[in-house]
Amino acid sequence: MKVLIVGSGGREHAIAHAVAKSPRVEKIYCAPGNGGIAELAECLPIGAMEFDKLCSFAREQQIDLTIIGMDDPLVGGIVDIFEEQGLRVFGPRKNAAILEGSKAFSKDLMKKYNIPTAAYENFTDPDAALSYLKTVDFPIVLKADGLALGKGVLICNTLEEAREGVKTIMLDKQFGSAGNSMVIEEFMTGREVSVLSFVDGKTIRTMTSAQDHKRALDGDKGLNTGGMGTFSPSPFYTKEVDEFCKKHIYQPTVDAMAAEGRPFKGIIFFGLMLTEKGPKVLEYNARFGDPEAQVVLPRMKNDMIEVVEACLDGKLDAIDLQFEDNAAVCVVLASQGYPVSYEKGYEIKGLEGFKGKDGYYCFHAGTRLTEDGKILTNGGRVLGVTAKGSDLKEARANAYAATGWVEFDNKYMRHDIGKAIDEA
Ligand code: AMP
Ligand code: GLY
Repeated sequence: MKVLIVGSGGREHAIAHAVAKSPRVEKIYCAPGNGGIAELAECLPIGAMEFDKLCSFAREQQIDLTIIGMDDPLVGGIVDIFEEQGLRVFGPRKNAAILEGSKAFSKDLMKKYNIPTAAYENFTDPDAALSYLKTVDFPIVLKADGLALGKGVLICNTLEEAREGVKTIMLDKQFGSAGNSMVIEEFMTGREVSVLSFVDGKTIRTMTSAQDHKRALDGDKGLNTGGMGTFSPSPFYTKEVDEFCKKHIYQPTVDAMAAEGRPFKGIIFFGLMLTEKGPKVLEYNARFGDPEAQVVLPRMKNDMIEVVEACLDGKLDAIDLQFEDNAAVCVVLASQGYPVSYEKGYEIKGLEGFKGKDGYYCFHAGTRLTEDGKILTNGGRVLGVTAKGSDLKEARANAYAATGWVEFDNKYMRHDIGKAIDEA
C-alpha cells in the first residue's frame, strides 16, 4: 500500500514512523516533509495548502491512503476535495474540521449539548465586547475565533489589559482574519491534559493521555509556543476522570457533531482542564497534537493503518486500542529566540546516536536535508527528542540524557518537561 502524509513537523514524523511499522505499507510519501521524515518517506516539493497538486499526485501515483497531519488544510477543506476525486483520505471534512477552525462554533456546540466548558460569550462587534468586559470578573480569557498557530489566546488580569486585548485581536488583527470574531470566556484553573482519539463518525476510541508544556521558559514562564515538550501518560488523568469524560465529553461530542449533520471522521484532540468542578473542555483540535503525537504514537501497540482504515470504513467499534504499560517524554530542542525570532541553517550533529537505540526517537520538526546530505536547522522548533521508560521518571531521565546526543548552534530547551510528575 502507498501512503501520502501531508505536513512537515514533528507530528508528521511521528505519524510516518507509526505508518512505516505497518507490514502493509510499501512506500510512504510526505508533502512537504522535512530532513528526518526523508529517511522514512520520499518528500515532495508540494506545500500542504496546494490541494490541486496534492490531489493530482495522489491520483497519478495511485496513492491508497492520504493522512492529513495539519490543521490548516483540514479547515480549508482538503478532505472534501480528495473525496470528490474518489481518493481515500483520513481527516475530517471541512464541515467537521470547524470543530477546531472556529472557537465560536465549538463553544456553541458544547453549550447546546451540555458538554462541560468555561462560561463564555461570542462577539463579532468590538464595541459589544468592550461593554461586556465591564460586567465580568478578572482574570478573563480572550480567544480569536479562528486558527492562530496556538497563539490567539490572551489571558487578561485587568479591565485595561482586556481592552488592549480586544484591540489586538479585533481591531489591529494581530492574528489576521482569525480575529474577525472572538470568544470571551471564564478563566479556569487546574491541571491541563490532552486526550487524542480516533473517531469514525459515530464510535470514538481514546488514546493514552498526555500533557503539553506550552510556555517557552522553565517554570511555565515566557510566551506561548506550539509546545516545548510533552509527557504521557498524565498521572492526573485518573480512572475517575476518564469515566467522567467518556460519559460527558467524548461520546457526547461525537454524537453532537453527527446530530448537527457534521459527522466527524479523523482525530479529535480534547484539550481538557481538570478543574475543582470536574473536567472541562478548553479546546478541540481536529488532528493529532504536536508534540503530543510524539509521546502517544510510540506507545501505541496497534497497527496505525488498521485503525485508520477502521475509521474510514465506520468499523472502529471492532478495534481494541492498546497502549504499552510504560511512559514517554518528549523534549523539544528549539532555536534560541523561538517563538519570536531565531536563526536557521545551522548543521545538526550527532543524529546517528539514535540509530538502533530501542525506545529513543529523534522526531524532526524544523529541519532540512541539503543536497550533500547534511541536516540543517530550519525552524523554531527543530527536534523532538523522545524516550520511553518504565515510568515517567525514567522516561524523563532517558529523554534528557538523549538531548545531549545532538548538537547545533543556538540549541535551546526547557529543563522541566514532565516536572509536574515529581509533584504528583
Ligand atoms: P487553547 O488554544 O484554547 O487551548 O488555549 C491555549 C492555552 O490557554 C491553554 O492551553 C490554557 O493554558 C490557556 N487557556 C485557554 N482557555 C483558558 C481558560 N478558559 N482558563 C484558563 N486558561 C485557559
Ligand atoms: N500541542 C498543542 C497542539 O498541538 O495544538
